[in-house]
Amino acid sequence: MTDDIFSYTSEQQGILTCASLPIDQEPDIISLRPERLKDYIGQAEVLETLEIAIKAAKQRGEALDHVLLHGPPGLGKTTLSHIIANEMGTKLVLTSGPALEKGGDLVGMLTHLDVGDVLFIDEIHRTPRAVEELLYPAMEDFSIDFIFDKGIHARSHRFPLKPFTLVGATTRVGLLSAPLRDRFGLFRSLDFYTNEDLEKIVRRSAALLNLTITSDGAAELAKRSRGTPRIINRLLKRVRDYAQVREDGKITRKTVEQALQLEGVDHAGLTPLDRRYIETIINYYNGGPVGIEAVAATLQEETDTLVDVVEPFLLKTGLIMRTSTGRKASDTAYLHLGLRRTPI
Ligand SMILES: Nc1ncnc2c1ncn2[C@@H]1O[C@H](COP(=O)(O)OP(=O)(O)O)[C@@H](O)[C@H]1O
Ligand SMILES: [Mg+2]
Repeated sequence: MTDDIFSYTSEQQGILTCASLPIDQEPDIISLRPERLKDYIGQAEVLETLEIAIKAAKQRGEALDHVLLHGPPGLGKTTLSHIIANEMGTKLVLTSGPALEKGGDLVGMLTHLDVGDVLFIDEIHRTPRAVEELLYPAMEDFSIDFIFDKGIHARSHRFPLKPFTLVGATTRVGLLSAPLRDRFGLFRSLDFYTNEDLEKIVRRSAALLNLTITSDGAAELAKRSRGTPRIINRLLKRVRDYAQVREDGKITRKTVEQALQLEGVDHAGLTPLDRRYIETIINYYNGGPVGIEAVAATLQEETDTLVDVVEPFLLKTGLIMRTSTGRKASDTAYLHLGLRRTPI
């Protein structure tokens, strides 16, 4: 175990996480968000489904079916909700499961929606149960039930809503209750982007930011971005600063390599936390299988962070495996870290 893998600054970890950060709200990062279906790169199957459904709904003059989007952070779920509203030509209202603490919060939003408007609920799996139950009739019959009084005097009153579209986003579809899941007409999962798509995304972003990037520079950034558009845009900004201060402003493979070395991103795009996670399994648990809680406790990280943010990419690239008895490091993981399997 080398020390440099275990020591990293929180700033470094910050920029590399796929979770949303204040930097993502900076105007030039926001300007990179595609606004229409034709500007959205990759996820061809999801786009085709949405394109057809949106066209059909518009032809019939109806609201689009409710859409559930699933996938790791930073892959474009929020972006798609903006695009859906733009394509439908309707209003978008954004909220999130944890923000909907009381039923009244949701009712207020629902009653202000016009025909075809889009209500986006991020992290919908974290919606409190009582609020979730209000969603059932709202989604199914476009109405909400108000309950007055308690016990035998309880009366309910149905309040009609305008037909709207609920777009739900979740990193963990398994945590969604069946009644909620079943009320979505469209359910699509977003997958990590291919290097080819990421190259297109970074070229588009570079053009919007007036930056010069060579093709090998774009390819190198794509390789190191954990298959995630949010990360490639952030890294592009970092590399831009480096290129401006240390080079002549042009982004080449060399500038990418040097700038990202400072950030602790390795050639496969793994971050310090990714490597610490794998090293923990290998060094403390002899390569696994080990339960996720034990890994989280050793790393002093939240289990949810590991499951939502760290693991999906490591599973996708075959560095770790999830078995019924726990997480295991693969041979590739040992190779990647230059470690050897020790016989038990
Ligand atoms: N398909 C795409 N094409 C181009 N840029 C994208 C795409 N998907 C996401 N992005 C970029 O990545 C950023 C993060 O996407 P976002 O929709 O916020 O992810 P999520 O909601 O899934 O966490 C967006 O601001 C956008 O600039
Ligand atoms: Mg989002």
